[in-house]
Amino acid sequence: MESRASAENNPWIEDECPPSISLSGDLAKKKIYPTLWWLFRDGLLPEQTHFVGFARSSLTVEAIRTASLQYMKVAEGEVDRLSMFFSRNSYVSGSYGEEVSFSQLQAHLGSLPGGADANRLFYLALPPSVYHDVTKNIRHHCMSARGWNRVIVEKPFGRDLQSSQELSAHLSSLFSEDQIYRIDHYLGKEMVQNLMVLRFGNRIFGPIWNRDSVACVVLSFKEPFGTQGRGGYFDDFGIIRDVMQNHLLQMLCLVAMEKPASTSSDDVRDEKVKVLKCIAPVSLSDVVLGQYVGNSRGQGDAQVGYLDDPTVPKDSTTPTFATAVLYVHNERWDGVPFILRCGKALNERKAEVRLQFTDVPGDIFGARCRRNELVVRVQPNEAIYAKMMSKKPGVFFSPEETELDLTYHSRYRDVKLPDAYERLILDVFCGSQMHFVRSDELREAWRIFTPLLHQIEEERTPPIPYTYGSRGPPEADELVKRVGFRYEGTYKWVNPHRL
Ligand code: BG6
Repeated sequence: MESRASAENNPWIEDECPPSISLSGDLAKKKIYPTLWWLFRDGLLPEQTHFVGFARSSLTVEAIRTASLQYMKVAEGEVDRLSMFFSRNSYVSGSYGEEVSFSQLQAHLGSLPGGADANRLFYLALPPSVYHDVTKNIRHHCMSARGWNRVIVEKPFGRDLQSSQELSAHLSSLFSEDQIYRIDHYLGKEMVQNLMVLRFGNRIFGPIWNRDSVACVVLSFKEPFGTQGRGGYFDDFGIIRDVMQNHLLQMLCLVAMEKPASTSSDDVRDEKVKVLKCIAPVSLSDVVLGQYVGNSRGQGDAQVGYLDDPTVPKDSTTPTFATAVLYVHNERWDGVPFILRCGKALNERKAEVRLQFTDVPGDIFGARCRRNELVVRVQPNEAIYAKMMSKKPGVFFSPEETELDLTYHSRYRDVKLPDAYERLILDVFCGSQMHFVRSDELREAWRIFTPLLHQIEEERTPPIPYTYGSRGPPEADELVKRVGFRYEGTYKWVNPHRL
């Protein structure tokens, strides 16, 4: 497991100054406590790590245990280890804006083994409204005197270029860049991390990875469910801020970037920033927006449209679906469309990167060849496969569509892939920032999307309605076709591993 390898490289895993972790917010029970438990269970954290929750409510560790237990996947035989995990937990309640609360937190942290010298990792899973005060109070009252201090920041990192820049300026007035870990959990996914190895660890892809051979690149994120009670939060952000500006754009960078000088965090992030700098702000004419409506013939949630959510304003024009076409204006990619597609309440759950290659020049097979595609399926069911032509087996001499297939659950049967959060939190412990978003990346990402976001909000651009459970608006497929993606509909994937 990769995270285990990272832990082995961790220079302070036997450190005398054990770290303590403070965390807060609702994400805590669903993701953060379970992830910390898995890391602790697997022995990936220093044994003396202590976990401290901090929030407004007056909670107990027992209440946290009850709330998070259902997400922790505790196996039989792990009960003692789980008790040990919770014995390392404590909780302090306080007010985010009051300095005295943070002095109390500091006193509590100081009373733990390692005291004022312990390393400290602060995980801020908080509403944006309290970011300012909390980070200031942490900086002024809770920093470790001799150990390291690291801060994990969850999105939203602002809502446009200006607000994001303000937040970045505030954070950088308190912490140095190497103390700030901005999470984009897609960067913790197995196949997203694999993009660099695939590209730069193989000879076969490098020479064709450019505008001479690639017709277009499609980056997709599809979810088969709607906003599921998160409508209130979502309505303020929309799918472009929720998924496209971060998860899909990060994947685009990994597909488009040049080979970094090394695998060091800053060399990698330097290359990603260069890609972003070559992308012009997206214009509305290159975008299709959608909003799902209930399917009267569907079952359960599928009958509920976005506007039926009681927490969503009845006249909301917030998109729950978007397709956008971006161009990377550099020597490698000039003219190649990068198509970003994302949506809620669609027909399937899928996240993938798809490169469609150009037609074979000088065809000798009577136009029976289809374009090659290389697909990196991020989820579900991780896989890499290349769609290709091969001779139809038998007494034929005609080309037929088939694939070279690397399906993970067949090829790596016994490997347990860690959750994205598991890898990323472990990386923070290890001090590796490669899979975290640097402030200049963030600024460029907002530069690309802010004019579009402002325009659709000011003009209240009406999204195209699409039915819950569909492929999204047909206009999106038309846009994709117009810019050069060719969908043949002839390829059928046959599971080659089925006995
Ligand atoms: C989050 C978005 O960042 O990613 C959610 O805010 C989305 O709206 C989620 O559902 C998807 O994550 P995953 O790992 O389930 O693909």
